[in-house]
This record gives sequence, C-alpha cells and structure tokens, in this order.
Amino acid sequence: GPRGPFGLGNLYNYMPGIGAYSWLQLHKAGQDKYEKYGPIVRETMVPGQDIVWLYDPKDIATLLNERDCPQRRSHLALAQYRKQRPHLYKTTGLLPTNGPDWWRLRSQLQKELSAPRSVRNFVDEVDTVTQEFLNFLEQSAGVGVAIDMLPKLTRLNLELTCLLTFGTRMDSFSPAEQLAESRSTRLMHAAETTNSCILPTDQGLQLWRFVETPSYRKLRQAQAYMESVALQLLEQNVEKDSMRSSLISSYIQNPQLDRLDVVGTAADLLLAGIDTTSYASAFLLYHVARHPQVQQKLHEEAVKVLPSAKQPLQADALRTEITYTRAVLKESLRLNPISIGFGRVLNQDTVLSGYFVPKGTTVVTQNMIACRQPEHFPNPLSFQPERWLQQRNALNPYLVLPFGHGMRACIARRLAEQNMHVLLLRLLRNYELI
Ligand code: HEM
Repeated sequence: GPRGPFGLGNLYNYMPGIGAYSWLQLHKAGQDKYEKYGPIVRETMVPGQDIVWLYDPKDIATLLNERDCPQRRSHLALAQYRKQRPHLYKTTGLLPTNGPDWWRLRSQLQKELSAPRSVRNFVDEVDTVTQEFLNFLEQSAGVGVAIDMLPKLTRLNLELTCLLTFGTRMDSFSPAEQLAESRSTRLMHAAETTNSCILPTDQGLQLWRFVETPSYRKLRQAQAYMESVALQLLEQNVEKDSMRSSLISSYIQNPQLDRLDVVGTAADLLLAGIDTTSYASAFLLYHVARHPQVQQKLHEEAVKVLPSAKQPLQADALRTEITYTRAVLKESLRLNPISIGFGRVLNQDTVLSGYFVPKGTTVVTQNMIACRQPEHFPNPLSFQPERWLQQRNALNPYLVLPFGHGMRACIARRLAEQNMHVLLLRLLRNYELI
C-alpha cells in the first residue's frame, strides 16, 4: 500500500485542496485503494502510524471475532473532554473507552439495550411517537412541495431517543420546539456538530491535544450543551421517580453502576442515538421512494400487520411477520451503511490474508466497498431486497454489517432496527412515497 512521498506518509492526500481524498468521501478513497492495491492495504498516514484496510470477508471475520475486550481508537477528543471533567464522568464512556473499564460498563448496560425482550417492551411507545411524526409530516407538507426528510427524521429520532432513554417527551414536533433556540433544535445541532468533529479530531496530527483547535472548540461547546440537557433530563427522571420505564431508570437502580456512570451513559446515548438512525432512515426512504414495486410489497405487508391503521402495532407481529420489511432495511444498509466499516486496534499479533500484522496496529474494515463488489453480490449497485429472501444462505455473513460485529457491535442494534421497521410499516400503510 501507499507510504507517501519519501515514506513521509499519506496524510497530505486527505487535505482539502491538496490531496485526492476527502474525509467526507471516505468510500471513494476506499474504492480507489481497493482498485490500486487489492483486498488488503497498508497505508502509512504519518511515519510510524499505519492503517491496514480490509476488504476480504475472511479477514473481516478474523478481526471482528477477536475476544478479550476488542479495542477501538475513536472519539479521542471526546475522551479528552470527559477526562477533564471527572466530577461528571467516571470513565470516558462506552464509545472511546477500552479494556476492562469498557467491559464493566458494557456488560451492565447491554441487558436493557440489547436483549430482544427488553427491546420489544418499547414497541408501544415507538409506535405512538411514529404516528405523531406522520401527522407532523402531513401538517408540514404543502401540496406539490417536496419535504426535506433528513431534519424531520432527526426530530423523530431525537424524540424517540429521549423517550426511551429518559422517559421524557421533548415535544419536538410542536411549533415552539421547531424554533432555532428551542431545546430540541439546539440538541439536534449539538449532536450533529459533535459527530462531525469526531473524524477531523481522530485523524492526523491531533493538535487539539496541545491547543484548542476550531474542531475541538466546536466539540467542547456542543458537548457542554448536550451534557447540560442530559443532566436536566436525568434530574427530571429521578424526581418523577421513574413513573415511566426508561433505560436510565433501570440503570439508576443497578447497584453495579454509580451516578457518574449513568451521566456518561445518558450523554453517550444522546450522542449515538440521533444522527445514526436518522441518516440510515433517510437512505432507506430514498431507496423505497425510487422503487414503486418495493413500495407495493411493503404496503401489502403493512396491511397484514395493521389491518386497521388505527390499531397499535403488535410486538409479536414485528418479530414474525415482517420478512419483506426486514429485507428492505437490510438491502438499504448494504448499499448505504452509515459507516464505511469499523476500526480495531489489534490486541494480539494476527495473520490477515497471509500477512503478519503486529499487535497494536490500527485495522479498519471496508464493508461498504466490499458490499458493492460483483463477486459478492450479483448486480451489486441495484436495490434488490429479494436477494435477502432468495439467496440468503449464499451470501457471506461478514459483508453486510451495518452495526458492526462481535463484542463491540452497536449496543442498540435491535432497538434501531425496530424503530426503522415501525417507521416503514406505519408510513407505507397509509402513504406512497414519490
Ligand atoms: C441505524 C442506526 C445505527 C447504526 C447503523 C449504528 C451503528 C453502529 C456501529 C457501526 C457501531 C460500531 C460497531 C463496531 O465497532 O463493531 C456502533 C456502536 C455503538 N452504537 Fe450504534 N448504531 C445505530 C444506532 C444506535 C443507537 C440508536 C444507539 C443508542 C441509543 C447507539 C449506540 C451505540 C453505542 C453506545 C456504541 C458503542 C458500543 C461499544 O463500543 O461498546 N447506536 N453503532
């Protein structure tokens, strides 16, 4: 792979106006490296700092099945921000923490967030909010005017994240909450700002460790706001004495977690829950809108589980009767995952595609590019949910991994999938996307 001019590294190649790549279009950089160097690429970023990129599902499986607290090297500036505030955070949170500190948190948090039974308990609330969201869309739509869906979906996922995490309604579809200075609007922007600062602060020279760079300042200010809202919602939850069941009320009652663990978790869920599901839903609706025959089948499945649009969605129906809806979501995430792949720092020396890769190396998978190769998926760029119904067993399970895989996979995968299934079914039950 590329070492850069005179072995000085390839970082320049990602700089705006200078290099051929862009942090905002990493999939293009991924495709280019695949074409030039093949299914495993070693790229020197700065001397002494290499990234190994993997495109082969066998290597991806080897990497992601690592046990013993798999390590991720991301959200580094967020970790620094939290370390400087020990009165509020006991650890740097689930996203950047590694090792036993990470596992202590993860093992306590995952029962409520990941177990199928716990996730099914949220169906009624998600269904109610989704129906309100569709009324909100109807009210904001003018005749013949296209709706800009992404900001609307962000409101939906803000509302859902706050309800499921804290048991609090934000009323983010109300006219008052749509104003620029409202709590919902500011929270949406703060989450987006933080997320947009993660890549620029993780990569490159990390000058923010020594001086406050513009990206670090934006992240700090956005986090300060998100943290203030998380604390507010947490206090409200404690005062109400958990009238509504919520993730945070379960965590508060868990003797293995203390208050500072809960504050960090609240901040993590606000950060990880909103944009992820909104972008994934926006791609999903885009693909559905472009395929009328897919819409027709979705509508038929929606009518089956909701013979009357007024009745509530049943958790059991979501579990057993929505095969086509699931296939549509999976196909959308195959073509447009929200992350190009996943990074790990190797815990031990490993052999990948016959190459020795030493412990401590940063290795990143390229699932999005691998998912678009004809050797893995016939006619790879076409949107075909049927491939998940007909040839499912012939497809390699280490390619479409929109939530990652293994011990460090997305803790809220089932919840996020369930929310998107409910959205699809409710939407296609009564509307056509054009
Ligand atoms: C469509 C929606 C979502 C997608 C595609 C997604 C994707 C991901 C991915 C790719 C990872 C890293 C996995 C890995 O390294 O193997 C991750 C981690 C994580 N996600 Fe999600 N996510 C989504 C929704 C959510 C939601 C709704 C929440 C919380 C409410 C959440 C919380 C987290 C957390 C806390 C982690 C870190 C887990 C750990 O390191 O132990 N995600 N997610």
